[in-house]
Amino acid sequence: MTAKPTARILHGTPQTLQRLARALRRGELVAVPTETVYGLAADALNARACQQIFAVKGRPVHDPLIVHIHSLRQLEQLAEVNDAALKLARKFWPGALTLVLPKKTIVPDVVSAGLPSVGVRMPSHPLFRRLLKLAGTPLAAPSANPFGYVSPTSAAHVQSGLGGRVKHILDGGPSSIGLESTIVDLRDPAKPRLLRPGAVTRVELERTLRRKLLRAKPSTTTAAQVAPGMLASHYSPRTRVTLHTRISLRDIRAGSARDAWVFRARPKTLRAANVFWLDDEGDLRGSARALFSMLRRLDDGRFTTIHVERAEGEGLAEAINDRLRRAAVRK
Ligand code: TXA
Ligand code: MG
Repeated sequence: MTAKPTARILHGTPQTLQRLARALRRGELVAVPTETVYGLAADALNARACQQIFAVKGRPVHDPLIVHIHSLRQLEQLAEVNDAALKLARKFWPGALTLVLPKKTIVPDVVSAGLPSVGVRMPSHPLFRRLLKLAGTPLAAPSANPFGYVSPTSAAHVQSGLGGRVKHILDGGPSSIGLESTIVDLRDPAKPRLLRPGAVTRVELERTLRRKLLRAKPSTTTAAQVAPGMLASHYSPRTRVTLHTRISLRDIRAGSARDAWVFRARPKTLRAANVFWLDDEGDLRGSARALFSMLRRLDDGRFTTIHVERAEGEGLAEAINDRLRRAAVRK
């Protein structure tokens, strides 16, 4: 897709936010910053507006959208709430956690992809929160990238993927977390299931719920399943990605200038035009924040293979390694 960019990148002045809120209420799409990744937002209660999201992203209609809210009152408007959901909402919202709950009829079928459930999240990004408040309606928003590609963590990423197809991009700076939200299925509060790992970690969730989380069912490569976001090849750059526990000097010597090497931390001595690292110290938060923009940066045709070291440890490492595994699936 080489459509000429027509999107305007806008800064969140009070007047601009008012204008974007009106656009959303008229059924237009707005790309919005969130603390996880940028989203492509529409009025979640307007089925026609939400259909546009699928068209613009080239997203299959069996892949449901996450609905973003400003208040707990809106959660009750959209979903059948249970105690486990309230516990998690009180502890982790606003933040990088999506709860899947039985939906109420007000949620259009296009949003839930025909499922009887809906994914809901209260984001923490201050500009997005202001926009949600001004719009006065919940906003459905998947990641603002062409379907299947790496999620955007800056306004420039949105511009490069969807700039020819959306009118408004609200610039809220680089996403502070950099990975999509944690998704927990709470349709049955006695059997909470982790559908997608993210910055709110399994351990934190288990401690709050005082229960073990079931694991996501193993992903398949086709349609309508409980968590279509678990499709194996999601978030993939065009360039092949290969994962390593540790990249060694010997690996690099055996490779060529067309191999990119991405270390967890800054290598002490090695410097070359094809050597990169996610975070100077190998810190997990820094690595999560840098991962998607690194994959995009290296996916410009210079390299035949992007080699990446897996994250080490628990917590956020689970989310980083989940995205790395998906990026490494051969399409
Ligand atoms: O951090 C995020 O979650 C970002 C920002 C924009 O909020 N959103 C995002 O949406 O990453 P995305 O493109 O991953 O799409 C939403 C995913 C679906 O692919 C699916 O895995 C899951 O959310 N989902 C939504 N509704 C669901 C439902 N009713 N049941 C199961 N999974 C659901
Ligand atoms: Mg996505």
